[in-house]
Amino acid sequence: MASGASAHDLIVAWLHAAAEPLSGAELARRLGCSRAAVHKHVEALRAAGWHIEGQHAQGYRLVGAPDRLDAATLGPRLAGRWRRIVSLAETDSTQRVACELARQGTEEGTTVIADRQTAGRGRLGRSWYSPAGANLYCSIVLRPTVAPARVPQLALVIGLAVAETVSATSGLSAALKWPNDVLVRGRKAAGVLTEMEAEVECVHHVIAGIGVNLNAAGFPPELAATATSLRLEAGRAVDRVGFTAALLAAVERRYERYLAEGFAPMRHEWEQISWLRGKEIRVTSSEGVLEGRVLGVDDDGALELATPLGRRRIVAGEVTLRDPVV
Ligand code: BTN
Repeated sequence: MASGASAHDLIVAWLHAAAEPLSGAELARRLGCSRAAVHKHVEALRAAGWHIEGQHAQGYRLVGAPDRLDAATLGPRLAGRWRRIVSLAETDSTQRVACELARQGTEEGTTVIADRQTAGRGRLGRSWYSPAGANLYCSIVLRPTVAPARVPQLALVIGLAVAETVSATSGLSAALKWPNDVLVRGRKAAGVLTEMEAEVECVHHVIAGIGVNLNAAGFPPELAATATSLRLEAGRAVDRVGFTAALLAAVERRYERYLAEGFAPMRHEWEQISWLRGKEIRVTSSEGVLEGRVLGVDDDGALELATPLGRRRIVAGEVTLRDPVV
């Protein structure tokens, strides 16, 4: 246990790790205090939103955490090596905060989470709808030892981790729209924004920003036709703490694998859930507009397109369907 952890943190961690209820006497022994003091701590935790069943005589059992994304709720659930959580009630954008921490040298895996963003950013200069108390907005500091030109692949890898977590935690089937939109039943449930600071040959850091619409009950009119939340699709509320812990573990696992083996081993998995496969699309990029049928993604994560002029490889751009269903 980390030194400096409070009695509350320790009680939560022990109850979380225990297979059986822990008695007040056992908690008192571990903390080196009286059973009455343990009882007071448990009451304070309950008042702060922790669901703890039981009495000090029979033993305490942790059955639920408060719906709050911070180090206290996430700490006991983190499964990987990334441990630093910076939690904010409100900020303009977690991307900005994470970038500042990265410049100051924070450790890899530092994750900034905000309950609400006042200027959440999306890809291509768009904004990201970020109301309070409903969704997940996080930015993870990465220091990949790859050439800057390979960093766009990371966005695909992270998209895959998000889609995997959506499917695993909600039972919904998540699809990926290249490069990294996560769709459920054709509507966007999550997005990934990767931003990098680099020199020509060396990446200083990448900020992987992930927004997941978990419990949003609705969207502003301009998004209503294209966006959705896991709650709207599954018909039940999502456990934000459980989802976030699972997502961070999935991102870390995929990231480590990417650093060791590159994107190629994940290509098949990515294509299995590609929403665009076989579809006629239009890609708009700084180089103009290209139309064609999607063949798949290649080992570098580029989109392969069959066009009237032959096969083309797309490394960046905004994709729209040529014949949208809606
Ligand atoms: C997209 O346009 O699909 C990407 C959306 C990324 C949104 C997330 S929310 C957390 C992080 N902070 C931001 O300002 N943006 C990203």
